[in-house]
Amino acid sequence: MNIIESITTRYACRAYLDKPVNRSDLEKILDTARWSPSGVNTQPWRVAVVTGKTRQRITDTLTQAREDKLPKNPDYTYYPAKWHEPYKSRRKNTGLSLYAALGIQKNDPDSQKNAWYNNYRFFGAPVGLLFFIEKDMGKGSWVDMGMFLQSIMLVANGLGLATCPQASLIEYPDKIRDILDISDNLHLVTGMSLGYPDKTHPVNNYRLDREAVNSFTSWYK
Ligand SMILES: Cc1cc2nc3c(=O)[nH]c(=O)nc-3n(C[C@H](O)[C@H](O)[C@H](O)COP(=O)(O)O)c2cc1C
Repeated sequence: MNIIESITTRYACRAYLDKPVNRSDLEKILDTARWSPSGVNTQPWRVAVVTGKTRQRITDTLTQAREDKLPKNPDYTYYPAKWHEPYKSRRKNTGLSLYAALGIQKNDPDSQKNAWYNNYRFFGAPVGLLFFIEKDMGKGSWVDMGMFLQSIMLVANGLGLATCPQASLIEYPDKIRDILDISDNLHLVTGMSLGYPDKTHPVNNYRLDREAVNSFTSWYK
């Protein structure tokens, strides 16, 4: 798969096959993504790969925290406190598309909750990835991390695997650090599911569009 094809066919996969991912594929993905650029070659990314019992512990812990209505305490705010256009409509469209694919109605809080909790289950993917950055690094390192994340998703796609980056996994970072025995000097940037896609599942059979180039680009001479 060439790079353009990998970028344009990647999508947020929210249903996976119950099929393990070879350790060698995971190593290949990380071994390739490490070539991502970073300011003065800082390479600020830290990754935890979770499978098996550890992955399950994370699922159980996050689900329980949410059930207990524990206040979320992410290390940073991913989304704006107040949504305005055009982002507000894009966000709404994303949610509506997801619910439509899953056949979830507006007045069905139980199904909505289950769809959200699927995040904590890594959507059934056998592998979870958690990405950390040292807390005293600047915003630039977060830019670097974004490139690293995209590299991971593109290589995975090239290997026939699918991914879903997940800010939903950063709601209770202290609990994740606890499970992984990670210092609170490391901030949790995002999580990600990784595995073989269930291509027959309706949730994987719609695609979100993108704005046209001219809507976000100004050309100067
Ligand atoms: C950093 C990041 C965090 C995200 N968090 C979630 C999440 O918690 N749950 C989810 O279902 N999708 C999540 N997404 C996926 C986006 O909703 C998705 O990328 C976007 O709607 C565009 O769809 P596409 O990736 O399928 O093209 C996240 C994406 C990014 C980049």
